[in-house]
Amino acid sequence: MERTDETHGKAKRAQSPGPTHLAHSQAPMRPQELEHLREPAHTQAPNGTSSTDYSLLAAQVRSLSEEDAHWLPVLANASALIMESVPNLNWAGFYLMRDGRLVLGPFQGKVACVHIEVGRGVCGAAVKHDETQLVANVHEFAGHIACDSASNSEVVVPIHAGNGIVGVLDADSPLLGRFDEDDARGLEVVAAAIEKVADFSDLA
Ligand code: SME
Repeated sequence: MERTDETHGKAKRAQSPGPTHLAHSQAPMRPQELEHLREPAHTQAPNGTSSTDYSLLAAQVRSLSEEDAHWLPVLANASALIMESVPNLNWAGFYLMRDGRLVLGPFQGKVACVHIEVGRGVCGAAVKHDETQLVANVHEFAGHIACDSASNSEVVVPIHAGNGIVGVLDADSPLLGRFDEDDARGLEVVAAAIEKVADFSDLA
């Protein structure tokens, strides 16, 4: 699979300085410093369609770590940014690896299933194959786990830290075929931004 230079291929991961080398301010962010995060990273085209500026979204996600780089606040705010910036989502969030399976992490949307075994569902497939899953119709995906019956399409991107996968980014839409290759590559850029700034040392 072709990846942009900010995605998280194995070669790129091997060169990454890792979360322990990150410089981040100890001072709390002032309200005005959060202003740039309040601008949704999507634009409205004249024909009424809107698309996401994933580079801007990734930059916003990177800045989330400036006050506290621990994965919990970074992923909590990242799920809010994704939900706001990617049109037509009903669920956006994260599952994290714990004791060899995925456990529900920060998210926006309806109450979701708590545990997902590796290899099960779209999330488990992303972990098993260490590969982004782009699913145009979840009802045609063998083993899809329906947390929200409104979901019809889905993208799941693995997130890496240390020597392996620490979790997945999951985005669901009520629209069939909502996500295309650009969305999948864009969400990989967002996942790479998270890998770069978030401190997963208590998970990895
Ligand atoms: N549909 C996912 C389960 C997680 S929910 O979409 C939030 C899956 O099949 O793994």
